[in-house]
Amino acid sequence: MINEIEAARNAALAEIAALGDVEAVSTATARLTGKKSALSGLKKGLGALESIDDKKAAGQAINAALAAVNTALDDRRAELNAAALADRVEHERLDLTEFVAAPTRGHAHLVTQAWERLEDLFIGLGFQIAEGPEVETDWHNFEALNMGEGHPARGEFDTLFLDYAPPGGQPGSTLLRTHTSPVQIRTMLAGKPPIYIVAPGRVFRRDTADATHMPVFHQIEGLVVDRHITMADLAGTIEAFTKAFFGSEFTSRLRPYHFPFTEPSAEFDIQRPDGSWIELGGCGMVHPDVLRAGGIDPEEWSGFAFGFGIDRMAKERHGVDDLREMFSNDIRFLEQF
Ligand code: DAH
Repeated sequence: MINEIEAARNAALAEIAALGDVEAVSTATARLTGKKSALSGLKKGLGALESIDDKKAAGQAINAALAAVNTALDDRRAELNAAALADRVEHERLDLTEFVAAPTRGHAHLVTQAWERLEDLFIGLGFQIAEGPEVETDWHNFEALNMGEGHPARGEFDTLFLDYAPPGGQPGSTLLRTHTSPVQIRTMLAGKPPIYIVAPGRVFRRDTADATHMPVFHQIEGLVVDRHITMADLAGTIEAFTKAFFGSEFTSRLRPYHFPFTEPSAEFDIQRPDGSWIELGGCGMVHPDVLRAGGIDPEEWSGFAFGFGIDRMAKERHGVDDLREMFSNDIRFLEQF
């Protein structure tokens, strides 16, 4: 009898261990502990036992077995409930980590980077930053820079004129500035020497985009007006800038050239470590007429000016083949700088 009880108990426990879900536990409860269960069935056999002690022992064994089965059922139910909950939590969970992680940050465009580095560098050399409008008058852009009406140099600037006539102005006398040089005039008119400024900005020309030209590009203008300023100050400034911007293995040279707003004028080139030269911009001693247009007496003051393309410099510094790449907004290109 005791062996049968033991066997029935073990069979029930094995069955319980194999139950797959809470519902199966409910149906198994009736089957394993109810009146028709194997263990309950064994109770009926108790009457057949002869000794009171045997009956008592067998009865206790059956009750103990039933209690064990009930405990096993409860445990299994709890186990399955916990697993079901864990499963649900896993399936319904919200991944909030993307809100917690720092968003990927972009960075300044390579032209902006060059622009800001140039500002820092010239501030370091003692210059201040000046600005002027992108929509300019013909007077500031040309006339005051010693390019009166009919001056052949005007033709070199493929100018975009505006129909807009400013108050008191002529139609066609307003334009998109073709260079940052008009900021020289505005700066001189706004203050008194000594003047040490650079003016970075956007300029416009009626050009078709190609590998080395864009209709909208960026220049940085420099203007120094003080007493006893000479061409040597200009050359020294250009050389200091070249080394600071490109590296100490670069040098610069001035090459005689002509600009209406400077006399004498030069173009300046920089030499790469491999010995090759590239042209960077124009410069010269500010023409007396330009000083006069800015309200400055050329007998008392002298100055130098320079201007060059920021985009071209960024292109050179980073070895970009085609200027158009820089304005294509292609993230794969931009990410590299
Ligand atoms: N404004 C000229 C250009 O756009 C560049 C330039 C040449 C600026 C000589 C200067 C200068 O200040 O002195 O081509």
